[in-house]
Amino acid sequence: MQLTEEILEKGFVDIPLETNLDLVAEINILKKQKNAVILGHYYITGDLQDISDITGDSLALAQAAERTKADIIVFLGVHFMAETAKILNPDKKVLIPDLKAGCSLAESAPADKFADFLSLHPGYKVISYINCTAEIKAMSDVICTSSNAKAIVNSFPENEKLIFAPDKNLGNYINSVTGRNMVLYDGACMVHEKYSLEKIIELKNQYPDAEFIAHPECEPPLLIVADFVGSTTALLKYISHSMSRRFIVATESGILHQMTKNQPDKIFIPAPSIDATCGCNDCAFMKLNTMEKLYNTLKYEQPELLMSPELIEKAKQPILKMLEISKSLSL
Ligand code: 13P
Ligand code: SF4
Repeated sequence: MQLTEEILEKGFVDIPLETNLDLVAEINILKKQKNAVILGHYYITGDLQDISDITGDSLALAQAAERTKADIIVFLGVHFMAETAKILNPDKKVLIPDLKAGCSLAESAPADKFADFLSLHPGYKVISYINCTAEIKAMSDVICTSSNAKAIVNSFPENEKLIFAPDKNLGNYINSVTGRNMVLYDGACMVHEKYSLEKIIELKNQYPDAEFIAHPECEPPLLIVADFVGSTTALLKYISHSMSRRFIVATESGILHQMTKNQPDKIFIPAPSIDATCGCNDCAFMKLNTMEKLYNTLKYEQPELLMSPELIEKAKQPILKMLEISKSLSL
């Protein structure tokens, strides 16, 4: 179905809801009626994580999108994640509650700038982090996520000339753990670059029993002092197995919902940002997803994520390659 001008302009279906609507019940009814599946990332709010059929990190959600039998996929995350679901399911309807749920990291790599960057490095293979647009994926040899980045990089021969894009922090971290010297594109996530090392060290001094755990999109000085570095799923596994009771967590605040749910007796402190008033631990894009928008999305089957068949075809191979390599990994 074509998107109306209004939805395109606002990004979402702006129709007021009836009063006293039991949103959880209604969403579940609509989901069943329409044979829809809801895929939700760990960074969305707790209510949305709880109503999702599958809650996971970028890799788990791409894998779920690949195997779903549902007719409709509703993606509660950001635009590039819904795009990945569409690329894997060109014949299914993929819905996203707010088309404006973008990603600062994906935005840091516009297609024309990226093409110029690649032209400076002939003969290089290109590994792109999934946090990029379909256009960038189409220019890449393989995609990775923060869960499988090390394994994807190691799937290339040691002497292969590699570009890692668009996240320089993840790329730098993977260079450090693999001993590679990949050329890094200069992109970053605005949420993960706002943590204050100084305040984290103060917190560590205040709570010497606390472990500091961080997502690899954080800047190198944080990753150097972190007790553990990993994707959102790896962080969740870590807090379950660690004997510590207290953790300082440097990644988007939505993960704390899942951490508290999994380990109710442990204490999770969000890592402080450079500016105490900015609410920088929240990804403003992820937080564009709301229960109200989800309800309208399911009811009106809008906004639908639409892509040209040509772009889908070009972006598909590098994603399939990642999924194939990931099959043999225990993540
Ligand atoms: P994950 O790979 O842990 O899902 O991270 C996704 C993301 O957007 C990080 O900012
Ligand atoms: Fe993008 Fe950063 Fe938000 Fe993740 S947290 S979706 S990388 S802006």
